[in-house]
Amino acid sequence: MYPRSFADGDGDGMGDLSGITGRLPHLVDLGVDAVWLTPFYPSPGFDHGYDVADYRGVDPAHGSLDHFDVLVTEAHRLGLRVIIDIVPNHTSSHHPWFREAVADPSSPRRDYYLWRDPAPDGGPPHNVVSFFGGSAWAPDPGGSGQYYCHLFLPEQPDLDWSNPAVLDEFDAILTFWCERGVDGFRIDVANSLTKDPWFRDNPQLRTTEGVADPIDLFLCFEHRYDIDQNSNVAVFRRWNRLVAGHGALLLGEVGLVDPVRLARYHDQGAAIHRTFYLEPPGWRWEPLRLRDGIRGFHLASPGSVAWTIDNHDSARSASRFGGGDRGRLRSLTVTTLMAGLGGMLFLWQGQELGLENGVIAPEDLTDPISTRNPGATAGRDVTRTPMPWDDGPNNGFTTAGRAWLHAQPRDPADTVAGQRGVEGSWLERHRRLLVLRREHPELWTEPLQWLDTDAGLLMTYRRGDTIVTANLDEYPTTLPLPPGAWTVAFSSDNGTHEPTGSAIEVPPETALVVVPST
Ligand code: BGC
Repeated sequence: MYPRSFADGDGDGMGDLSGITGRLPHLVDLGVDAVWLTPFYPSPGFDHGYDVADYRGVDPAHGSLDHFDVLVTEAHRLGLRVIIDIVPNHTSSHHPWFREAVADPSSPRRDYYLWRDPAPDGGPPHNVVSFFGGSAWAPDPGGSGQYYCHLFLPEQPDLDWSNPAVLDEFDAILTFWCERGVDGFRIDVANSLTKDPWFRDNPQLRTTEGVADPIDLFLCFEHRYDIDQNSNVAVFRRWNRLVAGHGALLLGEVGLVDPVRLARYHDQGAAIHRTFYLEPPGWRWEPLRLRDGIRGFHLASPGSVAWTIDNHDSARSASRFGGGDRGRLRSLTVTTLMAGLGGMLFLWQGQELGLENGVIAPEDLTDPISTRNPGATAGRDVTRTPMPWDDGPNNGFTTAGRAWLHAQPRDPADTVAGQRGVEGSWLERHRRLLVLRREHPELWTEPLQWLDTDAGLLMTYRRGDTIVTANLDEYPTTLPLPPGAWTVAFSSDNGTHEPTGSAIEVPPETALVVVPST
C-alpha cells in the first residue's frame, strides 16, 4: 500500500499511519497475510517519500513512531505481518549526511556519496542517465566544481556502497526496525546499489536526440556499468545474515528482464529471499510475453519470485489490459495464474476492486516523472489516487475538503462499500481466490508441474491435486483432465463451468482452479 493514499486518519487530506491502522480489518477480510508499506519516513517529498531524510523516523504528515508502533502491534494482533520499504540506493538531498557532504568536502560524509570531476568539456563525467530524465550527474551545490551521481532525481543523491561506513549505517538502520517489530524489508532498486568503480560510459544503442520520455531515454543505452553490478549481491548476503536473527524477510525490487540474472539475487536463499518480477506491471495485454515471461521467471527461481501485475509505479492492469470489465477480467486471470506459482503473490491497493486508472486534471499531477518532463508521460499518479472506501465525499478517503492528490470521484460500484458482500464483485472474487489459496495449501507446498505441452496460450500447472489453468487466448480452449472426477473451485469470470467427460472448456481470457470432486 501507498501510505499517502490508503486512508487519512487525521483529516488533513494526506494518508497516514493511523488511517492505515483503522483500515487493517479490510485487509484481514480480504485474506492477505502481510502488508508492504511504501516509505513513510521524514522526507521533503520530491519523490513522495522515496527521498528519505531520516531512516529512523516517521514523517509528521504520516504520524509518529508511536503511530507506527500501534500499527505494528495491531497488525500482529490481527495476524498480519508488516513489511516496510528501505531505500538504500539514495538518500534525500535534505538528509544530514548529504548536507554535511556538501558543506564540508573534507568531511567523512563526503565519501558516503559518489563525486567525480567534470568531463574535459566541463560537463557531466559519465553518460549514465537518470530514471527520471536527463543526465544522472548534477553539479555540487556547494560549488566545488565536482558532480554527484543521482540515478533518480537530483534531490536523490546516490550513496557510495563501496564505502564500508555506508554498509555499517544500513546495518544499524535494519536492526533498528527489526527491533521495532517489522517482519521484513522491501528493498528499493536493489539492483542499482553498487556502480562500476571506474564509471565507464554505458554503450549507447541509439541517439538520444528528441527523446523526451525518461523510459525511452533509459532504453537508448545498454546499462552495463550503472545497474546490476555483480558486487550488489554481496550487500544482500550481509543483510541476509543480519536479518536472520530477527526472522525478517528481504524482498527485493530487482528490475531485471533476464530470469537468470535475477536468480543471482536469491543466491539460493543466501541473499534476498524473494524478488519482484517487474515486467508484468509494465505490460499491456500481450499474451505471448505474459506466457513466456511468467514461465521463464518461474523456472529460473521456483519459489523465490514475488508475483504481481500492479504496483505504485505502473498504470493499473485493468486499464493497461484494455479497460472495462474485459481489462478487469484479464487482470484477475493473470493474478489467478500467479496465485499458485509459489514465492509470494502481491496485490496493489485497489486492485482487489478491479480499479482502473484514476482520472486527474493535468494541473493536479504531482509525480516528478510528469511534472519534470512535460509532455513525456502521464506518470505514476494515475495509479496512486486515493483508495475509494465508499461513496461519501472523497470516496471516504479523507474528511478534508481535498485529498493530497485530487482526482475524479470513483463510481459507488468501484468502492469497498459498494463491493463488499456483493456476489460476483471484483472484491469478492479476489477474496475467494485468497481463501482458496488457504483452503488448498498444496498450491504452495506441493511440487509444481507444468501441464501445457503445446505452444498455445493455455497455461496450466498442477500442484498435488489442484490444477490451475489460464486461457490467455481470445477463443475458448479445451483442457484435457487427468483421470478422475473434477470440479471447478474458482473461475476468474465468476461463471459456472464443469468438465464434460475428461475435459473442460476454458473460456477466453479466463482462469480456472480445478480440484477433485468430493
Ligand atoms: C520505487 C519508485 C521510486 C524509485 C526511486 C522505485 O523503483 O518503486 O516509486 O520512485 O524507486 O526511489
